[in-house]
Amino acid sequence: MNLKLKGANVYVAGTFKKRDLFVTNDCIYSIGSGNEVCVLEFNHGEIIEKKIDSFNNISARVIDLDNSFILPSFCDVHVHFREPGYEYKETIKTGSQASARGGYTTVCTMPNLIPAPVDKKTLDVQLEAIKKDAVINVIPYGAITANQSGRGELSRMREMADYVVAYTDDGLGVQTKDLMKVAMHEAKSLGKIIVAHCEDEEILARGDVRKSEWKQIERDVMLSEETGCPYHVCHVSTKESVEIIREARKSNIDVTCETAPHYLMLNDEKVDYTSGSYKMNPPIKTELDRKALIEGINDGTIGIIATDHAPHSKAEKARGFEGSLNGIVGLETAFSTLYSNLVLKEEISFETLIKCMAANPRKRFDIKESGLAVVILMKNI
Ligand code: DOR
Repeated sequence: MNLKLKGANVYVAGTFKKRDLFVTNDCIYSIGSGNEVCVLEFNHGEIIEKKIDSFNNISARVIDLDNSFILPSFCDVHVHFREPGYEYKETIKTGSQASARGGYTTVCTMPNLIPAPVDKKTLDVQLEAIKKDAVINVIPYGAITANQSGRGELSRMREMADYVVAYTDDGLGVQTKDLMKVAMHEAKSLGKIIVAHCEDEEILARGDVRKSEWKQIERDVMLSEETGCPYHVCHVSTKESVEIIREARKSNIDVTCETAPHYLMLNDEKVDYTSGSYKMNPPIKTELDRKALIEGINDGTIGIIATDHAPHSKAEKARGFEGSLNGIVGLETAFSTLYSNLVLKEEISFETLIKCMAANPRKRFDIKESGLAVVILMKNI
């Protein structure tokens, strides 16, 4: 059935425009105030208008959108779907359904699985589950190391290159400079990005949870400059990390980063240290850190907001703060909580939020989606 959506605010190429939309089986047309007609296309997370000369009015059911917003769908480059290996926590099916509910049409899955994707054979187990059960576009990461352990030998990165979005050992940092350097050389030769969970285990064992993050970022930024390998940092949580990445970007080193909704909305004073719900890695830092992350989002140092959606079973999260497993879910709630807590409180603009959730991740990881403009509609926000 054709639909005419009247009076929408459509996010076109970075700004909101008042439009009526005609939705047919194979196309979405937009009609502006001067009656110019365009076809909507979707390119790397941006809705683009392409002008057309003629348009035959079509019969359609009319829905008055009353200034509701139409946005490009979101892309999350950091999720844990737990299949294969931990299906009691989440499956490709339930994880991708949660993503669709949250407005995502593409997500990238982390490799801390059993088997971990360390070569084509192990990766195939996940690829087959995706083919069978995913309701949106799900693209896996390949592991950096052969045991997905941050140590030892490299995984068979080349074998996986055509099927993975990038390489990471997320959950663990790559512990030595030499190993990270060979990984970067290999990724660069494959035209891929190294994505790093930065956590130096020796520094962490001495109790310095902040330095364990930024010290590895500092090391890797230098390696990225030396090797020319594109480098992306996961879930940045400290002020120092933001500063290092800001300076590296000023020097034109190919480094990007993401942070997660919880680091942007919470600080250590809001954490309930008796509850497993607040247990995640990296842990929530101070208000000064949160403010630095907001500043990083606003000046473009942090271009991507990714959920680090990391479900566990009820029992695994019910053992208090100390005893529970690390991880918080986010796919269904990221947009609405960020909108309420940051946009409405004027810490970041609506446009910046959309850019960090839709276009920036797709551009950085060269994620193309086929088909028509993929949009979500929000009534009465
Ligand atoms: O909180 C986290 N949970 N951080 C990680 O790095 C891994 C993740 C998980 O897999 O549960």
